[in-house]
Amino acid sequence: AKLRAESESLARESDSLDKLQKSIAEFDGLSIKKTATNLVFADGNPKARVMIIGEAPGADEDRQGLPFVGKSGQLLDKILFYIGLDRQAEDPEKAVYISNILNWRPPGNRTPTTAEIEIALPFIEKHIALIQPEILVLCGGISAKTLLNETRGITKLRGQWAQYNPQTEIGVEKNQTQALPTFHPSFLLRNPAQKKSVWQDVLSLQKRLEQSKA
Ligand code: URA
Repeated sequence: AKLRAESESLARESDSLDKLQKSIAEFDGLSIKKTATNLVFADGNPKARVMIIGEAPGADEDRQGLPFVGKSGQLLDKILFYIGLDRQAEDPEKAVYISNILNWRPPGNRTPTTAEIEIALPFIEKHIALIQPEILVLCGGISAKTLLNETRGITKLRGQWAQYNPQTEIGVEKNQTQALPTFHPSFLLRNPAQKKSVWQDVLSLQKRLEQSKA
């Protein structure tokens, strides 16, 4: 609870992306920082309508300091490209912004612990509040359950649009951000038969983006 209070207060004081990145980098309350090589903060265009949130960096991400750059990242890029989205795009209509629940790689790619997630929550909620995306795409069970405050698993949640309601007061935001949970690309690499449900999810995302175009 003390570490969570500390991360909350740091997140509260971070009123820009640069400051938030610095606060996360300097925060010593997550022991995974000690075993990680680089902080993995974000990639893509902060003006994007869509923000994608994964679980935690893997080995490739840890080496490069960027989210989703390994095998699952390549699959994610391919899925996004299918509906005309691209993390390199300058046009906010085509752009995405990408981050993770945890910004440090858990050793051996183990699953984040409940304690780590609780401590990191103010950071990711502040991150979302600074970006103010229209849509959140939540990749995998950890991301979906954490940000939707859900106990149901990803198989139940995927493909179902949900209202994002921040759990910390730091996360309060003006937009009515809608969230779409979907399977994590690394799960798809292990279970290719599930790809068709993710194609459905991204088509639903594309439809929503077209409908709500300003
Ligand atoms: N898996 C994730 O959840 N995030 C990454 O950045 C890479 C792999």
